[in-house]
Amino acid sequence: MAVTVVVPTYNERDNIEPLIRGLAEALGDLGYEVVIVDDNSPDGTAEEARRLSKRYPVRVVVRPRRMGLASAVMRGAAEASNDVVIVMDADLQHPPRVARLLALAARLGYDIVVASRYTEGGGVEAWNPLRHIASRGGTLLARLLVPPARRSTDPLSGFFAAKRRLLLDPGLRAEGFKILLEILARNPSARVRDIPYVFKPRSRGASKLSLGIVWAFISQLLRLVVESRRV
Ligand code: GDD
Ligand code: MN
Repeated sequence: MAVTVVVPTYNERDNIEPLIRGLAEALGDLGYEVVIVDDNSPDGTAEEARRLSKRYPVRVVVRPRRMGLASAVMRGAAEASNDVVIVMDADLQHPPRVARLLALAARLGYDIVVASRYTEGGGVEAWNPLRHIASRGGTLLARLLVPPARRSTDPLSGFFAAKRRLLLDPGLRAEGFKILLEILARNPSARVRDIPYVFKPRSRGASKLSLGIVWAFISQLLRLVVESRRV
């Protein structure tokens, strides 16, 4: 059972080659394809990905302008040719060899497999105290306010595998960064499994996390609370 790795990119040119090489090593024997969803990055990320697509099973989708991480993930899933989709960042903070563990767990039949920073054996390297507090606080809030998020220790993770159909759900909202939270909320009976991993320091380029993204998360939380009251 092959997997599709969906990688949203915005200005990640220098990370693409090590990422693609790492994925080839980690997933080569399982069967895989990579779908890069680039938002017309000015640094030439898409060109670099196209160059690599001559040697590796990589497809490149370019959208005309910056449209956000969650919607890029949904677009990648729409393009995927496999039933299991792995979502990961391009910047090597999500180690490719963990993608292999996600693929293997998905094979066992789980609907959602989360690479978790907050389970035994997981962790975070090189964050400032503020980012630690924000991440822990956000995770706590999500688990408190959105009961189906309690099925994972890291419902805000950007690194997970899911059945493709869960990502094609027309009711899924494509705002902000936290698409996993949305999927967990909409599928309270999904079979969920966590796999520990250590979130690495960014290898090159800059983070796109901004106040706008934090705000998108807060309004997403409020909306999920209101929606869950309605059902
Ligand atoms: N196509 C596209 N469009 N890609 C984007 C956009 C966008 O508007 N914004 C960000 N990306 C891409 C980045 O290029 C990177 O590959 C990935 O999305 C994550 O962006 P980062 O800026 O590196 O995010 P982060 O490291 O602060 O946070 C990530 O990791 C956390 C822990 O797993 C995110 O995945 C968070 O959602 C997650 O909680
Ligand atoms: Mn990152």
